[in-house]
Parts: sequence; structure tokens; C-alpha cells
Amino acid sequence: MHLSSAVVAAVFASTPALAAYNLVKEYSGTDFFSGWDFYGNYDNLTSGDVIWVDQANATQSKLAYVNDAGHAIIKVDNTSFVPYNYKRDTVRITTQEYFPIGTVLLFDATHLPYGCSVWPSFWTKGQNWPIGGEIDIIEAVNLMTYNQMALHTQNGCTQPSSVTQTGSTGNTNCSTDAGCTVAEKQSNSFGESFATAGGGVWATQIDTSGIYIWFWSRENVPSSVSSATDSVDPSSWGTPSASYPSSSCNIEQFFTPQQLVLDITLCGNWAGVASVYQSTCGGDGTATACYLNNVINNGTNYANAYFEISYIKAFSNSSALVATASGGSTVLVSATASATSGGAASSESSSAGSNAAVAQVSLEGQAYVGLAAASVLAAFSWVFL
Ligand SMILES: *[C@@H]1O[C@H](CO)[C@@H](O)[C@H](O)[C@H]1NC(C)=O
Ligand SMILES: *[C@@H]1O[C@H](CO)[C@@H](O)[C@H](O)[C@H]1NC(C)=O
Ligand SMILES: *[C@@H]1O[C@H](CO)[C@@H](O)[C@H](O)[C@H]1NC(C)=O
Repeated sequence: MHLSSAVVAAVFASTPALAAYNLVKEYSGTDFFSGWDFYGNYDNLTSGDVIWVDQANATQSKLAYVNDAGHAIIKVDNTSFVPYNYKRDTVRITTQEYFPIGTVLLFDATHLPYGCSVWPSFWTKGQNWPIGGEIDIIEAVNLMTYNQMALHTQNGCTQPSSVTQTGSTGNTNCSTDAGCTVAEKQSNSFGESFATAGGGVWATQIDTSGIYIWFWSRENVPSSVSSATDSVDPSSWGTPSASYPSSSCNIEQFFTPQQLVLDITLCGNWAGVASVYQSTCGGDGTATACYLNNVINNGTNYANAYFEISYIKAFSNSSALVATASGGSTVLVSATASATSGGAASSESSSAGSNAAVAQVSLEGQAYVGLAAASVLAAFSWVFL
């Protein structure tokens, strides 16, 4: 375990202007895939006709790689012949880190997976899913032309009937199967038009006051977002596409720290529903149309079934963050570290970690105290466990 010297240098070099949210984690470039776990099993979650392959297989088959532009590609296998009754290979990955309330996420892509039977998503979930809440930031199926956002929670979280957002509410009860959905109303939020417009950026703010999602098509991305390196300030972003204020959903009750998920499945519980499939992809309206018309055979219809991601960045409003191990994963938690006379550190964390994890936080707290003493208000520490 050590504090990255690069991070230490960055911390001392910065003289933060008390920006609201400071960068704590970035997934981009050749390192994009470090810090993610690959599922390595068939889709036993949404009944899709896919195998989410392990990392070795995804790398070897080039289903997950970084392209010459330095963008992460995550795709459906579009070169293998899949016989009847078999599933097609693709990818589902989850971050090892969990990001607490007090986080802003930026997601910048130039292409999203689309096409008949294709069901991609960029979303977040608590460790004890579904109890710890779920935020669907990007999700759509088949030839839908717009993105649909949603929260999924236990009973007791709703979206108010009147809310300040540019999107269109479909369902206000977040504990239903569909979740509390909001359809994007701006142009080019999904499908071919998203790519033609050069892609775009989503920002998600997870705050005690609510959860808010913004979308900008490429030409509308504010410079404060496109040039955000160290910090972001959501207060300048205007009305979000989707708003879930805490007035009717106690965010601290329904959302634990969230890990990020990127996945693509085929058919399954949404894209494959006969009426849903038929509404944009036609066919004979039978339950097997999605599978038979797409998944099997040579897969040439999956040439557009890929994410091309420029970066994912996580920012935190907390003056101090440490990472702690919990159940084999890493949880980012706000920490209050204070030095005692003996130079030992104590640490309070909002996560229910194991004893081992707490011990690691305490050790890291010692390292952190040194930085805090340098009065770096926006400092963060990063632990490699
Ligand atoms: C899905 O498969 C994984 C890997 O085998 C397993 O850990 C998990 O419990 C399964 N989940 C469900 C809902 O069946
Ligand atoms: C950060 O945001 C969280 C969640 O909204 C809030 O509870 C906390 O007070 C904020 N911390 C700071 C330092 O503003
Ligand atoms: C497979 O998809 C890629 C884009 O991800 C495309 O460039 C390629 O032409 C496709 N291959 C086939 C055989 O359709």
C-alpha cells in the first residue's frame, strides 16, 4: 500500500480555488481498463443472449481495448458465427471503486452501441444491489432514438410530479420494475444520430439534495466540462435532463456508495420483449424474433454495437477522500483524519468496512494527515491496496 507519488505531487502542486468538486478518479487512455472487473459469465441478470467474457478473452478477442485515438472500445463480437441455441460474446465491466454521495461523474463518448437486439447501459449501483440503489445514466434498446434515464430503489423513493428538468418523466415510482424513468428530449442522445453528432457528454451529480443528470450533444458541451481536468462546478450547468430531488427520495437512505457499470447485452428483458423489439425493429412480433433475426449466424448486424469512450471522470466535493477495501472492492469514502499526539491517525468512514478495511484506512489516515497539515483543502489521497 502506498500513496502514489504522482498524486502527492499533484496535491502539493495544486492551489485549489475551493472549486465545488475535485477530480478523484479518471478512466481514460491506455489505462482505461485498469480498475475494472470483467463479469466472466453468461448474462444471468437480464436474460440477454450473451456471454459477458472474462478479461483475458475480451482482450484477446478485441472486445475490450483502447484504440489508436486513445478511446476505450467495448463491443459485441461481430465476427464469430453463433449457431442456433448459443449466445454471443460481449462485455460487462464494473469498477472496483465505489463513489459516495458527494460525487459528480462525467462520461464522454463518441459512439454508443446500437442496432436491433442491442441493449447497452452505463449505470451505477450500490454494493448490495438492489438495496443500495441504481442510477441508469445511459440506457436504450434496439433502434430507439433517445436515451432513457432512471433510478431504481427500494420502496419509498419517487420523483415529484412537478420537477425542474428538460426530460420527460415516464414513471415516478423508483421501486417499480421500470424504475422512475426520464426520457431525454434533446437531440442526438442515442443511436446513429449520437455518433453522427460527434457523441456527447453526460454529467451525473449524486448529492444529498438529489440526483441530477445532464446531457450535452458534442456541439453543446460547455467548455467548463470539456476542459475539466482538476475540478467541475455543476452550479453553472443549468437545468438537468433528469432531476430526482430529495424532497420525495431520501438519497442517503436509498443510495449507498455506487460502483460504475458498463455493459452490452442482446435481447433479454427489455430489448427482447416482443412488443418492444417490434416497435423499432419490426419482424413478426414473436418472442423469438429478436434472437433469431440477430444473435445467431455471422453477426454482421453488430458493426455498430460498440462503445467508444473518451473518458470517465469522478469528482468529489469532499475535502478528503480515502479508498478502503470492502468485500474485495475499493470504496471511496469521505474521511476525517486527525493526528493524535503520538502521530497516529484516526479515521471515520461512512462505509461499513471489515476490520481489515478499517485498519487500512487508519494506516492511510497517517499518510493523509501529512498532506492535510499542508493545508491542502481540496486534497485527496489515493490508496493502492
Ligand atoms: C450470476 O452468475 C455469477 C457468476 O457465476 C454468480 O456469482 C451470481 O450469483 C449469479 N447471479 C444470479 C442472479 O444468478
Ligand atoms: C458533499 O456532498 C455531500 C452530499 O451531498 C454533503 O452531505 C456534504 O456536506 C458535502 N460536503 C462538502 C464539504 O460540501
Ligand atoms: C465489426 O464491427 C466493426 C466496428 O466495431 C467494424 O469496423 C467491422 O467492419 C465489423 N466487421 C464485420 C465483419 O462486420
